[in-house]
Amino acid sequence: MAFGWIDEQAELRHRAGLVRTLRPRPADSPLLDLASNDYLGLARHPEVVEGAARAARTWGGGATGSRLVTGTTELHTELERELADFCGFEAALVFSSGYAANLAAVTALAPHGSLIVSDAGNHASLIDGCRLARGTTQVVAHAEPDAVRKALRTHDGPAVVVSDTVFSVDGDAAPLAGLAAACRDRGAGLVVDDAHGLGVLGDGGRGAPHAAGLAGADDLVVTVTLSKSLGSQGGAVLGPARVIDHLVNAARTFIFDTGLAPAAAGAALAALRLLRREPERAARARAVAGELHTRLTAAGLEAVRPDAAVVSVRAPSPEGAVRWAAECRAAGLAVGCFRPPSVPDGISRLRLTARADLSQGQIEGAVRVIGETRP
Ligand SMILES: Cc1ncc(COP(=O)(O)O)c(C=O)c1O
Repeated sequence: MAFGWIDEQAELRHRAGLVRTLRPRPADSPLLDLASNDYLGLARHPEVVEGAARAARTWGGGATGSRLVTGTTELHTELERELADFCGFEAALVFSSGYAANLAAVTALAPHGSLIVSDAGNHASLIDGCRLARGTTQVVAHAEPDAVRKALRTHDGPAVVVSDTVFSVDGDAAPLAGLAAACRDRGAGLVVDDAHGLGVLGDGGRGAPHAAGLAGADDLVVTVTLSKSLGSQGGAVLGPARVIDHLVNAARTFIFDTGLAPAAAGAALAALRLLRREPERAARARAVAGELHTRLTAAGLEAVRPDAAVVSVRAPSPEGAVRWAAECRAAGLAVGCFRPPSVPDGISRLRLTARADLSQGQIEGAVRVIGETRP
């Protein structure tokens, strides 16, 4: 029977407690949200919503074509200019998602005969970029510049090192200075995904590369998503103008994909301008993360010290994590639940988002619920 193997896989997934299901949320959900990636609480901010609405009224519901045909509006160019300027890079290129931006950066910068050195904890979109690239990938130990140095020494010719800046599962930061030094010693390029750093780390949320003093370096390329701190949708690659020009000509997820919807570009631009005006939002997200961690640890839970706005709490098993998240939900709290195969080390976790707009009462209430429902 066609697709018969799907049933076998479904049965295995069911037995392992790894079935995933969609849970549509209503517009007026009563749950306290610690599950989304809306780090700065901007997705529903009136200025961001109005930015989306104004862009849709001006430019229409869709971009109407790929970026190189009709899909580049003046709004896309404006967003690219402001993003590059905010984060401290020469140029930027906007994509329909952060996922597409990562595929573009890795595939276009790792040609045939090149070496890609990839951190073992990288996000799936970087991993898929490595899989699609013509270069050869070496996966190295998590957050270890010495392992990167060793891998780079095995290769003569073009090489690129790829890493998240803040790892999405545990919220720990990459050793950016060490990675950059390892790359420079060997003339390799560095591509980092700042999906969880933009809006949270660095001066006023300018991101992890800015915080590390690396913004604008000519051997550094940064990818970001517009879907987390900026409360919109889409992605971007930031870097030297010659790299961005290369992507326009060589990145298949740029060339063969419809441009980002104007509403998403308008929302992201509005969020960026808001962040410039209210830089304290970034520091507040970090402070909320620190407080969640302190309180969870004091309650006897095992939580990883957060480097940005992701707080990860260990669960005893995949089933235990699912049950824990369900009990939180029943008590009015939405939390993320990470388990295999989305985690590289087989350890299941609850994943909490330290939103900048959480009140003191909401932080304390969330920790109380998580403590009371622990498996
Ligand atoms: C580290 C990281 N990179 C890239 C992405 C993908 O970005 P997008 O959702 O915009 O496709 C995500 C999650 O969404 C992420 O966590």
